[in-house]
Amino acid sequence: MMTIKDYLKSCGVDERGLTVAETLVTAVKRISNVIKTASTGKAGSYNIYGEEQLALDILADKVIQEECKKNEYIGLIASEELPDEMKLSEGEYADYAICYDPLDGSSLVDVNLAVGTIFGVYEAKTFVGVKGNQQTGVLIAVYGPKTTIILTVKQGVKEFVMNIDGEFVMSNDDIKIEEGKMFAPGNLRAASERKDYMELVNYWCKEKYTLRYSGGMVPDINQILLKGKGIFSYPGYSEAPNGKLRLLFECAPMALLVTQAGGAASDGKIDILEKVVEKLDQRTPIYIGSKVEVERCCKALA
Ligand code: F6P
Repeated sequence: MMTIKDYLKSCGVDERGLTVAETLVTAVKRISNVIKTASTGKAGSYNIYGEEQLALDILADKVIQEECKKNEYIGLIASEELPDEMKLSEGEYADYAICYDPLDGSSLVDVNLAVGTIFGVYEAKTFVGVKGNQQTGVLIAVYGPKTTIILTVKQGVKEFVMNIDGEFVMSNDDIKIEEGKMFAPGNLRAASERKDYMELVNYWCKEKYTLRYSGGMVPDINQILLKGKGIFSYPGYSEAPNGKLRLLFECAPMALLVTQAGGAASDGKIDILEKVVEKLDQRTPIYIGSKVEVERCCKALA
Protein backbone atom coordinates (compact mmCIF):
# COMPACT_ATOMS: atom_id res chain seq x y z
CA MET A 1 0.00 0.00 0.00
CA MET A 2 1.94 3.00 -1.23
CA THR A 3 0.67 6.40 -0.15
CA ILE A 4 1.22 9.65 -2.04
CA LYS A 5 3.84 10.67 0.51
CA ASP A 6 5.71 7.35 0.17
CA TYR A 7 5.67 7.71 -3.59
CA LEU A 8 6.86 11.32 -3.63
CA LYS A 9 9.65 10.47 -1.17
CA SER A 10 10.76 7.66 -3.47
CA CYS A 11 10.98 10.26 -6.27
CA GLY A 12 13.30 12.40 -4.16
CA VAL A 13 10.76 15.20 -3.46
CA ASP A 14 12.06 17.30 -0.53
CA GLU A 15 10.23 18.23 2.69
CA ARG A 16 8.87 21.46 1.24
CA GLY A 17 7.49 19.66 -1.80
CA LEU A 18 5.94 17.03 0.46
CA THR A 19 4.10 19.63 2.54
CA VAL A 20 2.83 21.32 -0.64
CA ALA A 21 1.50 17.96 -1.86
CA GLU A 22 -0.10 17.40 1.54
CA THR A 23 -1.84 20.79 1.29
CA LEU A 24 -3.31 19.91 -2.11
CA VAL A 25 -4.39 16.45 -0.97
CA THR A 26 -6.09 17.93 2.12
CA ALA A 27 -7.98 20.35 -0.13
CA VAL A 28 -9.06 17.46 -2.39
CA LYS A 29 -10.40 15.49 0.58
CA ARG A 30 -12.38 18.50 1.78
CA ILE A 31 -13.76 19.24 -1.70
CA SER A 32 -14.74 15.59 -2.16
CA ASN A 33 -16.73 15.87 1.04
CA VAL A 34 -18.26 19.22 0.05
CA ILE A 35 -19.47 17.78 -3.29
CA LYS A 36 -21.17 14.90 -1.54
CA THR A 37 -22.92 17.07 1.02
CA ALA A 38 -23.35 20.68 -0.16
CA SER A 39 -26.27 22.21 -1.99
CA THR A 40 -25.88 22.37 -5.76
CA GLY A 41 -28.10 25.42 -6.10
CA LYS A 42 -26.95 28.53 -7.93
CA ALA A 43 -25.05 31.07 -5.85
CA GLY A 44 -26.21 33.90 -8.06
CA SER A 45 -22.75 35.38 -8.65
CA TYR A 46 -20.56 35.47 -11.74
CA ASN A 47 -16.83 34.93 -12.17
CA ILE A 48 -14.64 37.25 -14.26
CA TYR A 49 -15.48 35.35 -17.46
CA GLY A 50 -19.18 36.08 -17.00
CA GLU A 51 -19.97 32.46 -16.16
CA GLU A 52 -22.39 31.83 -13.38
CA GLN A 53 -20.62 30.31 -10.40
CA LEU A 54 -22.33 27.45 -8.68
CA ALA A 55 -22.14 27.38 -4.93
CA LEU A 56 -19.73 24.49 -5.26
CA ASP A 57 -17.25 26.48 -7.37
CA ILE A 58 -17.10 29.09 -4.67
CA LEU A 59 -16.80 26.56 -1.88
CA ALA A 60 -14.06 24.60 -3.64
CA ASP A 61 -12.14 27.79 -4.33
CA LYS A 62 -12.47 28.86 -0.70
CA VAL A 63 -11.24 25.49 0.55
CA ILE A 64 -8.13 25.62 -1.65
CA GLN A 65 -7.35 29.21 -0.64
CA GLU A 66 -7.71 28.31 3.04
CA GLU A 67 -5.39 25.32 2.74
CA CYS A 68 -2.77 27.16 0.68
CA LYS A 69 -2.72 30.05 3.16
CA LYS A 70 -1.69 27.60 5.90
CA ASN A 71 1.43 26.54 3.98
CA GLU A 72 4.43 28.86 4.39
CA TYR A 73 6.05 27.50 1.22
CA ILE A 74 3.22 28.65 -1.04
CA GLY A 75 3.82 32.27 -2.03
CA LEU A 76 1.35 32.67 -4.87
CA ILE A 77 -1.94 31.26 -6.08
CA ALA A 78 -4.13 31.85 -9.11
CA SER A 79 -7.54 30.35 -9.67
CA GLU A 80 -9.93 30.21 -12.56
CA GLU A 81 -12.47 31.80 -10.21
CA LEU A 82 -10.29 34.75 -9.07
CA PRO A 83 -9.84 38.00 -11.03
CA ASP A 84 -6.04 38.04 -10.58
CA GLU A 85 -3.18 36.08 -9.06
CA MET A 86 -2.94 36.43 -5.29
CA LYS A 87 0.28 36.80 -3.32
CA LEU A 88 0.12 34.81 -0.12
CA SER A 89 3.57 35.43 1.27
CA GLU A 90 6.81 37.24 0.53
CA GLY A 91 8.65 34.83 2.84
CA GLU A 92 12.13 33.64 2.00
CA TYR A 93 10.94 30.07 1.43
CA ALA A 94 7.62 30.87 -0.23
CA ASP A 95 8.77 29.69 -3.65
CA TYR A 96 5.80 27.58 -4.66
CA ALA A 97 3.11 28.97 -6.92
CA ILE A 98 -0.11 27.00 -7.37
CA CYS A 99 -2.58 27.61 -10.19
CA TYR A 100 -5.83 25.72 -10.09
CA ASP A 101 -9.27 25.12 -11.48
CA PRO A 102 -11.15 24.34 -8.24
CA LEU A 103 -14.06 22.48 -9.81
CA ASP A 104 -13.76 21.83 -13.52
CA GLY A 105 -17.05 20.93 -15.18
CA SER A 106 -18.99 22.10 -12.12
CA SER A 107 -22.33 22.20 -13.97
CA LEU A 108 -22.07 18.41 -14.19
CA VAL A 109 -22.53 18.09 -10.43
CA ASP A 110 -26.25 18.83 -10.81
CA VAL A 111 -26.65 15.77 -13.02
CA ASN A 112 -24.34 13.67 -10.88
CA LEU A 113 -21.57 13.17 -13.42
CA ALA A 114 -17.88 13.12 -12.53
CA VAL A 115 -16.05 16.43 -12.00
CA GLY A 116 -12.51 17.31 -11.04
CA THR A 117 -9.93 19.70 -9.61
CA ILE A 118 -6.74 20.61 -11.49
CA PHE A 119 -3.54 21.91 -9.85
CA GLY A 120 -0.42 23.07 -11.70
CA VAL A 121 2.63 23.57 -9.49
CA TYR A 122 5.39 26.05 -10.37
CA GLU A 123 8.29 27.68 -8.57
CA ALA A 124 7.60 31.23 -9.72
CA LYS A 125 6.85 34.76 -8.48
CA THR A 126 4.20 35.40 -11.15
CA PHE A 127 2.36 33.20 -13.60
CA VAL A 128 2.67 35.70 -16.42
CA GLY A 129 5.47 34.53 -18.70
CA VAL A 130 5.60 30.90 -17.54
CA LYS A 131 5.35 27.91 -19.87
CA GLY A 132 3.65 24.64 -18.98
CA ASN A 133 6.92 22.74 -19.15
CA GLN A 134 8.14 24.78 -16.15
CA GLN A 135 5.61 23.04 -13.91
CA THR A 136 7.39 20.97 -11.28
CA GLY A 137 4.34 18.83 -10.84
CA VAL A 138 0.65 18.43 -11.57
CA LEU A 139 -2.08 16.90 -9.46
CA ILE A 140 -5.65 16.36 -10.56
CA ALA A 141 -8.53 14.91 -8.57
CA VAL A 142 -11.50 13.09 -10.07
CA TYR A 143 -14.70 13.05 -8.03
CA GLY A 144 -16.72 10.18 -9.48
CA PRO A 145 -17.98 6.96 -7.92
CA LYS A 146 -14.46 6.93 -6.41
CA THR A 147 -12.31 9.92 -5.50
CA THR A 148 -8.96 9.52 -7.20
CA ILE A 149 -5.81 11.57 -7.63
CA ILE A 150 -3.55 11.38 -10.65
CA LEU A 151 -0.21 13.09 -10.35
CA THR A 152 3.17 13.60 -11.90
CA VAL A 153 6.44 14.99 -10.63
CA LYS A 154 7.92 14.46 -14.08
CA GLN A 155 8.78 10.83 -13.36
CA GLY A 156 5.80 9.22 -15.05
CA VAL A 157 2.15 9.32 -13.98
CA LYS A 158 0.51 7.47 -11.07
CA GLU A 159 -3.03 7.09 -9.83
CA PHE A 160 -4.12 6.95 -6.18
CA VAL A 161 -7.57 6.08 -4.85
CA MET A 162 -9.10 7.35 -1.62
CA ASN A 163 -9.83 4.48 0.75
CA ILE A 164 -12.39 4.26 3.53
CA ASP A 165 -10.01 5.98 5.96
CA GLY A 166 -9.57 8.95 3.63
CA GLU A 167 -6.03 7.89 2.73
CA PHE A 168 -4.90 7.91 -0.92
CA VAL A 169 -3.17 4.67 -1.89
CA MET A 170 -1.58 3.85 -5.22
CA SER A 171 -4.00 2.12 -7.57
CA ASN A 172 -2.16 2.37 -10.89
CA ASP A 173 1.59 2.60 -11.23
CA ASP A 174 1.85 2.19 -14.98
CA ILE A 175 -0.16 4.87 -16.77
CA LYS A 176 0.85 4.93 -20.43
CA ILE A 177 -0.91 6.26 -23.49
CA GLU A 178 -0.49 4.24 -26.65
CA GLU A 179 -2.66 4.05 -29.77
CA GLY A 180 -6.33 3.05 -29.90
CA LYS A 181 -9.66 4.08 -31.36
CA MET A 182 -11.36 6.27 -28.76
CA PHE A 183 -12.40 9.89 -29.25
CA ALA A 184 -13.76 12.78 -27.18
CA PRO A 185 -14.65 15.50 -29.72
CA GLY A 186 -15.23 18.74 -27.81
CA ASN A 187 -16.87 21.84 -29.26
CA LEU A 188 -18.69 20.01 -32.05
CA ARG A 189 -20.42 23.35 -32.68
CA ALA A 190 -17.23 24.25 -34.54
CA ALA A 191 -17.92 21.47 -37.07
CA SER A 192 -20.99 23.39 -38.26
CA GLU A 193 -18.71 25.95 -39.88
CA ARG A 194 -15.33 24.21 -40.02
CA LYS A 195 -15.20 21.69 -42.85
CA ASP A 196 -11.82 20.44 -41.59
CA TYR A 197 -13.23 19.55 -38.16
CA MET A 198 -16.32 17.93 -39.67
CA GLU A 199 -14.08 15.80 -41.91
CA LEU A 200 -11.92 14.76 -38.96
CA VAL A 201 -14.94 13.78 -36.87
CA ASN A 202 -16.31 11.85 -39.89
CA TYR A 203 -12.97 10.05 -40.17
CA TRP A 204 -13.17 8.95 -36.53
CA CYS A 205 -16.77 7.78 -37.05
CA LYS A 206 -16.01 5.91 -40.28
CA GLU A 207 -13.03 4.21 -38.65
CA LYS A 208 -15.35 2.99 -35.86
CA TYR A 209 -13.74 4.86 -32.99
CA THR A 210 -15.53 4.55 -29.65
CA LEU A 211 -17.10 7.84 -28.49
CA ARG A 212 -16.29 8.76 -24.88
CA TYR A 213 -17.25 12.38 -24.10
CA SER A 214 -18.68 13.42 -20.73
CA GLY A 215 -18.49 17.22 -20.98
CA GLY A 216 -15.86 17.37 -18.25
CA MET A 217 -12.25 17.79 -19.30
CA VAL A 218 -10.93 16.09 -16.17
CA PRO A 219 -12.95 12.86 -16.45
CA ASP A 220 -12.49 12.81 -20.24
CA ILE A 221 -8.71 13.03 -20.05
CA ASN A 222 -8.64 10.79 -16.99
CA GLN A 223 -10.32 8.19 -19.21
CA ILE A 224 -7.66 8.58 -21.92
CA LEU A 225 -4.92 8.16 -19.28
CA LEU A 226 -6.46 5.07 -17.70
CA LYS A 227 -7.59 3.34 -20.90
CA GLY A 228 -4.19 4.20 -22.34
CA LYS A 229 -5.53 5.50 -25.67
CA GLY A 230 -7.63 8.14 -27.36
CA ILE A 231 -7.92 11.80 -28.26
CA PHE A 232 -9.67 14.84 -26.74
CA SER A 233 -10.15 17.81 -29.08
CA TYR A 234 -11.39 21.32 -28.41
CA PRO A 235 -10.83 23.57 -31.44
CA GLY A 236 -11.74 27.21 -31.89
CA TYR A 237 -14.30 28.67 -34.28
CA SER A 238 -15.63 32.08 -35.27
CA GLU A 239 -17.38 32.73 -31.94
CA ALA A 240 -14.33 31.73 -29.91
CA PRO A 241 -11.22 31.59 -32.11
CA ASN A 242 -9.11 30.01 -29.37
CA GLY A 243 -11.85 27.78 -28.02
CA LYS A 244 -12.85 27.91 -24.39
CA LEU A 245 -10.26 26.05 -22.38
CA ARG A 246 -7.69 28.02 -20.39
CA LEU A 247 -3.99 27.49 -20.95
CA LEU A 248 -2.83 28.07 -17.36
CA PHE A 249 -5.61 26.41 -15.39
CA GLU A 250 -6.64 23.51 -17.61
CA CYS A 251 -4.56 22.86 -20.71
CA ALA A 252 -0.98 23.17 -19.42
CA PRO A 253 -1.49 20.89 -16.39
CA MET A 254 -3.34 18.28 -18.47
CA ALA A 255 -0.64 18.50 -21.13
CA LEU A 256 2.08 17.71 -18.58
CA LEU A 257 0.20 14.65 -17.32
CA VAL A 258 -0.51 13.31 -20.81
CA THR A 259 3.01 14.00 -22.06
CA GLN A 260 4.47 12.26 -19.01
CA ALA A 261 2.29 9.26 -19.87
CA GLY A 262 3.80 9.11 -23.37
CA GLY A 263 1.10 11.11 -25.15
CA ALA A 264 1.15 14.64 -26.57
CA ALA A 265 -0.76 17.94 -26.51
CA SER A 266 -0.81 20.66 -29.15
CA ASP A 267 -2.82 23.71 -30.14
CA GLY A 268 -2.52 22.54 -33.76
CA LYS A 269 0.84 24.21 -34.28
CA ILE A 270 2.70 24.48 -30.99
CA ASP A 271 3.18 22.00 -28.16
CA ILE A 272 0.90 23.18 -25.32
CA LEU A 273 3.82 22.89 -22.87
CA GLU A 274 5.82 25.38 -24.97
CA LYS A 275 3.13 28.07 -25.01
CA VAL A 276 3.90 31.17 -22.95
CA VAL A 277 1.17 32.31 -20.57
CA GLU A 278 0.68 35.93 -21.58
CA LYS A 279 -2.38 36.51 -19.42
CA LEU A 280 -4.06 34.42 -16.79
CA ASP A 281 -7.32 33.88 -18.68
CA GLN A 282 -5.61 33.03 -21.99
CA ARG A 283 -7.47 30.38 -23.95
CA THR A 284 -6.11 27.89 -26.41
CA PRO A 285 -7.38 25.27 -28.80
CA ILE A 286 -6.18 21.85 -27.66
CA TYR A 287 -5.67 18.39 -29.15
CA ILE A 288 -4.48 16.02 -26.46
CA GLY A 289 -4.05 12.27 -26.16
CA SER A 290 -2.09 9.65 -28.04
CA LYS A 291 0.76 10.93 -30.22
CA VAL A 292 -0.61 9.61 -33.51
CA GLU A 293 -4.03 11.19 -32.89
CA VAL A 294 -2.56 14.56 -31.89
CA GLU A 295 -0.49 14.47 -35.06
CA ARG A 296 -3.64 13.66 -37.05
CA CYS A 297 -5.41 16.69 -35.52
CA CYS A 298 -2.46 18.96 -36.24
CA LYS A 299 -2.39 17.87 -39.89
CA ALA A 300 -6.15 18.18 -40.31
CA LEU A 301 -6.81 21.37 -38.35
CA ALA A 302 -3.65 23.50 -38.18
O1 F6P B 1 -13.95 24.45 -19.02
C1 F6P B 1 -14.97 23.74 -18.50
C2 F6P B 1 -15.48 22.59 -19.29
O2 F6P B 1 -16.60 22.15 -18.59
C3 F6P B 1 -14.49 21.43 -19.50
O3 F6P B 1 -14.37 20.63 -18.36
C4 F6P B 1 -15.12 20.69 -20.66
O4 F6P B 1 -14.23 19.89 -21.39
C5 F6P B 1 -15.65 21.81 -21.49
O5 F6P B 1 -15.88 22.91 -20.61
C6 F6P B 1 -16.92 21.43 -22.19
O6 F6P B 1 -17.26 22.41 -23.06
P1 F6P B 1 -18.62 22.40 -23.90
O7 F6P B 1 -19.66 22.84 -22.94
O8 F6P B 1 -18.37 23.39 -24.97
O9 F6P B 1 -18.82 21.00 -24.41
